[in-house]
Amino acid sequence: MTSTRGGSSFHSGLLLGVETSCDETSVAILDHEGAVHSNLIASQIERHRPFGGVVPEIASREHLRHLMPLVTKAVSDAGATLDDISAIAVTSGPGLIGALLVGVAAAQALAWGRRLPLYPVNHLEGHIVSPYLNRAGAATPMPGRYLALVVSGGHSSIYDVRPRSEVPVAVINRTRDDAAGEVFDKVAKFVGFPYPGGPHVERASQDAAGSRFSFPVAKLKDGSFDFSFSGLKASAIRLARVEGLEGAGAESVSPDLAGFCKGFQAAIVEQLIDRLDAVWRAVSNESARPTELAIAGGVAANGALRDAVLEWGSAHGVVVRLPEKIFCTDNAAMIAFAAMVLGERAADPARVTARSRFQPGTRFP
Ligand code: KG4
Ligand code: ZN
Repeated sequence: MTSTRGGSSFHSGLLLGVETSCDETSVAILDHEGAVHSNLIASQIERHRPFGGVVPEIASREHLRHLMPLVTKAVSDAGATLDDISAIAVTSGPGLIGALLVGVAAAQALAWGRRLPLYPVNHLEGHIVSPYLNRAGAATPMPGRYLALVVSGGHSSIYDVRPRSEVPVAVINRTRDDAAGEVFDKVAKFVGFPYPGGPHVERASQDAAGSRFSFPVAKLKDGSFDFSFSGLKASAIRLARVEGLEGAGAESVSPDLAGFCKGFQAAIVEQLIDRLDAVWRAVSNESARPTELAIAGGVAANGALRDAVLEWGSAHGVVVRLPEKIFCTDNAAMIAFAAMVLGERAADPARVTARSRFQPGTRFP
């Protein structure tokens, strides 16, 4: 089995990235400076919307339909041919197992057939590095150490990141129950917004001058940095029922619904900032302390969160890196980039597997 440290294979040629962990099929081409030459995303949201969430069987079939045409188009959009590709990176987990298998099998076949190194990449590590990607030009230089907050439909965690080191990613906290995006989606569904609800909540709250509603922000008493959103979800749903807002957003956004959304969104943002602040205070006395804070994942597209994090960063003198919106959502550019900068190891294509559970920071043997 080959075992090449990430980086050494990337000095020449192009890197092809493949992402199929959930409901976006994506293929990207990056060069050795992390410049994105193409990043194509086929979203399946319309196919899943009638069911109010992602249907795994539909996701797998959609990936099968879109993946190889996207590979062909990504290569030609980059002005390249398959001969210019020198390595392949693929999301091997975590995610929906049937969806992951489509990308992994395609990447295995390409790597095997063309004798290229194959890098299995953790999807969350892709999100962790995504704020350093630029739509135009080389990637932003990464600091020796930074904190990354990843908030998506399935995950809410803060990571301690040391690019190109022996231990590039350590998990600092996690959510004890629901993920931030999941709570956005569930509460949004209850008030009548289509899936995925997060962007609808954001849009509705922009119509509100203020909010007369108040929501609980969980503070854990055991000194833990963990998130907990299930109490907020339950209280938001209870309040929406009492206020007659159940299903209301399917028609139009009333001033009451706008205010409700504004207060609910503010409670999510407040908890995220509270934990960031606590983690930052805990690590800021260390000698090689983190110097930057990066926010990533689908919820990082939220304007209220972006504003709050920028404000927090300027109050604390911390450089804040926000991903361009195209890199918030699931995409293959971040997967290829993670293979380059987080010390991923190339593996024998025959031994790479799809893994529905995959802890960030762990590596294939
Ligand atoms: O990272 P992502 O595209 O997929 C994974 O879950 O991996 O994240 C999707 C999540 C959904 O829960 C969606 O509602 C949420 O990100 N989201 C937002 C916004 N845009 C996407 N939540 C709040 N405000 C937004 N603008
Ligand atoms: Zn994701």
